Amino acid sequence: MRRFLLVAHRVPPSGAFTLNDLAGGAGRMDEIARSVSTAFTLSNDLRRDTEMTVVFAAEPPPNARRIELSGARLRHLYPDERSTAALLKNALVGAARYPSDFEASPGLKVGPADPLAIVAGFLREPGAVWLTEVGSPIGGHPISPSEFRGFLSDPFEPEGEEARLLGESGVPRLSVGPRSLRTSQVIDAVQRELDLREAGEKDGRGGR
Ligand SMILES: C[S@@+](CC[C@H](N)C(=O)[O-])C[C@H]1O[C@@H](n2cnc3c(N)ncnc32)[C@H](O)[C@@H]1O
Repeated sequence: MRRFLLVAHRVPPSGAFTLNDLAGGAGRMDEIARSVSTAFTLSNDLRRDTEMTVVFAAEPPPNARRIELSGARLRHLYPDERSTAALLKNALVGAARYPSDFEASPGLKVGPADPLAIVAGFLREPGAVWLTEVGSPIGGHPISPSEFRGFLSDPFEPEGEEARLLGESGVPRLSVGPRSLRTSQVIDAVQRELDLREAGEKDGRGGR
């Protein structure tokens, strides 16, 4: 299973934002929605081999939230940014009224979060990597597509304790290219890289 952890630093975790201002008052929800859509959508299908956790960390616990998406069961996810933002917003709004985890729609679970604990736990998972423009090229790193675990940030860089956790984690820092890309572009590049490796493994070339 390919897994991504994405931290949304400024999206209101209560879901109290309008779909008409995703890039402004919604704290760059446009990029979060694009990233989710990019992680899962194929032409006329969804990636069943991908899971993603989005941590909404603009507020500390108990108001922080997480949304876990599982490609194996996901439905109602379409390529456009606005409908994806609506799907996530509805889950966040529901979670603001209900204190425990629940499945807001098939393959989409929402619940309370301790953002730092989630980041720390993810970084301890075998195979975890930190996707960053200052990392070493992903092409030269041994990754099994089915065990990929990638951390990445939204348009706002990790700061404070989150930055410290990342810096001290010792996980490999990997780059998909020398330029600073949008989060969704990074996910696209990673999925392509993993697709190539998987295809190489299947036809016996053992990688890319
Ligand atoms: C829009 S970037 C963050 C802002 C950017 N650092 C800046 O200077 O404006 C969003 C995230 O994508 C990831 N990222 C961006 N470029 C990347 C690259 N070339 N390779 C790997 N990850 C990258 C990092 O996780 C980064 O936090």
